[in-house]
Amino acid sequence: MIALGRLIYRQGILANGKPVRAHVMGDIEVLGTQFTCLNCHGRSGMGGGEGKTFTLAINPAALFAPRDSMYLERSAYDDESLEACIRRGETPEGTALAPEMPTYELPDREMTALIAYLKTLSGRFSPGLTDGEIHFATVVGDGIDPADRMAMLAVMNSFFNDKNARTRNEGKRSRRGPFYQTYRLKAYRKWVLHVWKLHGPPDTWAAQMENYLNRQPVFALIGGMVRGGWQPIHTFCENREIPCLLPNTDRPGGIGTDDFYTLYFSEGLRLEARVIATDLVRQKKSVRVLQVYAAGSKGKFGAQSFANAIKGNSLISVKDWQLKPAEEFSPEKLSARIRESPPDTLILWLPTQAITRVPFAELKKMIKGQVYLSSSLLDDISPLFVTHSGTQVKLAHPFILPKNRQAVFNRITPWLQSRKIPLQRQRILGQTYYACMMLGKGLMHIKRHFYRDYLMDALDHGNAKAIFSINYPRLSYGPGQRYLAKGAFILKKNDDGKTSATWIVPHL
Ligand code: HEC
Repeated sequence: MIALGRLIYRQGILANGKPVRAHVMGDIEVLGTQFTCLNCHGRSGMGGGEGKTFTLAINPAALFAPRDSMYLERSAYDDESLEACIRRGETPEGTALAPEMPTYELPDREMTALIAYLKTLSGRFSPGLTDGEIHFATVVGDGIDPADRMAMLAVMNSFFNDKNARTRNEGKRSRRGPFYQTYRLKAYRKWVLHVWKLHGPPDTWAAQMENYLNRQPVFALIGGMVRGGWQPIHTFCENREIPCLLPNTDRPGGIGTDDFYTLYFSEGLRLEARVIATDLVRQKKSVRVLQVYAAGSKGKFGAQSFANAIKGNSLISVKDWQLKPAEEFSPEKLSARIRESPPDTLILWLPTQAITRVPFAELKKMIKGQVYLSSSLLDDISPLFVTHSGTQVKLAHPFILPKNRQAVFNRITPWLQSRKIPLQRQRILGQTYYACMMLGKGLMHIKRHFYRDYLMDALDHGNAKAIFSINYPRLSYGPGQRYLAKGAFILKKNDDGKTSATWIVPHL
């Protein structure tokens, strides 16, 4: 019953697989699959403002209680009047709802299922709340560079401290002030951060996280960093329906059709791989690509993503050269490998140390196409490889352009400095600060309605849009969009010595 109700609510599909029939604006017939309850009322049922119309909340607390506010006063619904509302668009008193709310032709069975499902929406607060507190966690895996970990935790701790200091004052003020408002007070919660340290092989992480949750449930995960891919944490959060906001990862999980809770800055190295693939395909020439990466490294994820992106493309063929885990990159071996079976184009999914030893001048004589590099793997110094090597090098760069980066970062340096946070690891600092701001905006929006789904709905509807971005040039929000960055630049030095940047939204 609930499952059928969910299907109608989220997808507008009847038990027989056919779309629900609905009418909007009086009598325009539409398919319920385009006008699902979810589209307007959100996954949480908490509604919200979008554009000019304001969508009412339809969780049980709202529906089965009278509304005596200024807007659309009505008595409480019961099952019968709710049916009438969904079929005819009217309140228990027979007042017509705004025409944006469609009317639905639902068979009785479907109607019963839908109403049963509505009763499951945003009822009790999500776990992670204790008296006066709201709990969050960040995941830190084994083998993380201590400087990265410190940068992330320093930003989070300072942000949480600031937040709590302000909340205390607000709490006091509203208690003392003449306009005492209990409902406001209830929204103020002290933010508590837990660090979930994960050890050992990734397939044991879910059990470790389960343990942490048993000890102290958390409302959401924020940021975080592990050495491998993010998929195990992604899967855990989806299974347990816990928001997982903006982890620091270059290897994000794949978004399944039912996934809702994990939000990433970008597809990481997969985005770079897809952008490189798109750049190559646009040249409309047949190309033999050689990818170089180390076994078990981040680079391997990039190389696999590239191979996936060009699958089925007849113009591009790809070969991989995989270095052994401990094998040092050798320029001589690279040259030998190229001579043996010459490629047109190289993609070097290698870290800084290796790239500094690449004989770019020599490569220019050996291959006629480009040498692609990954900005994520080379961190802050990646643009140097474009300016210092030949016109052959192309850099996949999902971040803000090098010339603007410092100015953008400077927006948070006073904050960091006054909290004595070293300015190293700018990418981590910026990403973490952004993630904390998003969380703050999201919580401000949901006020005292502490439902995880509502937090995700609020972020989806762009309630965090006002935030300035620090690392990424364009982040866009939208229901169901789980990678905020949609494209990346390809940076390249032109013949006149200037660097050009082409923005690519990959289609592969
Ligand atoms: C196109 C957007 C849209 C869709 C789709 C939509 N609604 Fe609504 N709904 C609204 C708006 C807007 C209102 C508020 C109407 C008003 O202000 O008079 C509303 C109001 C309601 C109300 C009345 C709330 C109250 O407090 O009186 C109920 C119940 C409701 N919707 C249920 C549903 C269900 C169930 C579905 C899916 C089968 C659905 N809605 C689909 C926009 C939508």
